[in-house]
Amino acid sequence: MTGRKVAFLGGGRMGEALVSGLIRSGGRSVEEIMVTCRREERARELKERYGVATTLSNPEAVAWAETLVLTVKPQDMEVLLAQIAGSVQPEHTVISFAAGIRTSFVERHLPDAIPVVRVMSNVAVLVDEAMSVVSPGAHATEEHLEVAEELLGYVGKVIRLKEAHQDAITATSGSGPAYFFLLAEAMIEACILLGLSRDVATELIVQTMLGSAKMLRDTGKHPVELREMVTSPGGTTIAAIRVLEETGVRAAFLNAIDAARRRSAELAQGGDDD
Ligand SMILES: NC(=O)c1ccc[n+]([C@@H]2O[C@H](COP(=O)([O-])OP(=O)(O)OC[C@H]3O[C@@H](n4cnc5c(N)ncnc54)[C@H](OP(=O)(O)O)[C@@H]3O)[C@@H](O)[C@H]2O)c1
Repeated sequence: MTGRKVAFLGGGRMGEALVSGLIRSGGRSVEEIMVTCRREERARELKERYGVATTLSNPEAVAWAETLVLTVKPQDMEVLLAQIAGSVQPEHTVISFAAGIRTSFVERHLPDAIPVVRVMSNVAVLVDEAMSVVSPGAHATEEHLEVAEELLGYVGKVIRLKEAHQDAITATSGSGPAYFFLLAEAMIEACILLGLSRDVATELIVQTMLGSAKMLRDTGKHPVELREMVTSPGGTTIAAIRVLEETGVRAAFLNAIDAARRRSAELAQGGDDD
């Protein structure tokens, strides 16, 4: 298989989460992973924690690897690309995690014909339940998408979409965990209002969210159908739903997610030089 030797350029939180997931799942052995860092202390830490090779030299990692996973912050991307431009070959697969950085930007800062795949994932990478979306750049083919899908498959679910959808993805599955955390927080507060302790409240709400998420995923039923299952005529649930609808919660979600999409597009504009 192609792409066995993987270099993570930028061993921060996302890079570490991916390395950890890859090793934990057996997707790669430690000998097949290299991580680059900006600071010696961080390189030592990752080496001790996972047993992978680390280096402060991005060109060294590029020369060794087949797959390059770019996990630096968007604002550090240009410097990183300048450091590796002399070593990247068309045989490499470049997978970029930087939010808001277009494949055209990466391609323009590297030699001609480099295959680039852009990824938007989410924080659930940490528990192997990420939702990741991959989009091909101008030179990425089926083979390169498969390399990205294989790697991301170890830490959750992966689908393919055109890059034009990346702002929408950022606003939904990318930021999505934050919306669910906010909902959990609000529901826990509600339990406390009703006189339950915080510990009990947290247990009730977390398990309820998990159970609901599993039903959504495993039954394949539409959310409306599942909601109807717990909404009996004249009952308690419909009394709550009425208040939620009166306060405009549905419109609030539509507006909020649209605002996130607009913000993502604004930030992406700043990260491009079109
Ligand atoms: N697509 C997604 O779903 C998703 C989700 C979260 C994050 N991200 C993206 O993932 C990327 C990383 O985010 P993060 O939260 O992991 O950031 P982070 O913790 O700051 O990690 C970035 C790491 O890269 C290092 N670094 C910077 N420039 C470097 C260079 N030229 N060579 C080697 N290492 C370098 C930094 O070193 P220092 O420690 O010295 O700063 C830092 O350790 C960002 O682009 C973010 O947009 C994507």
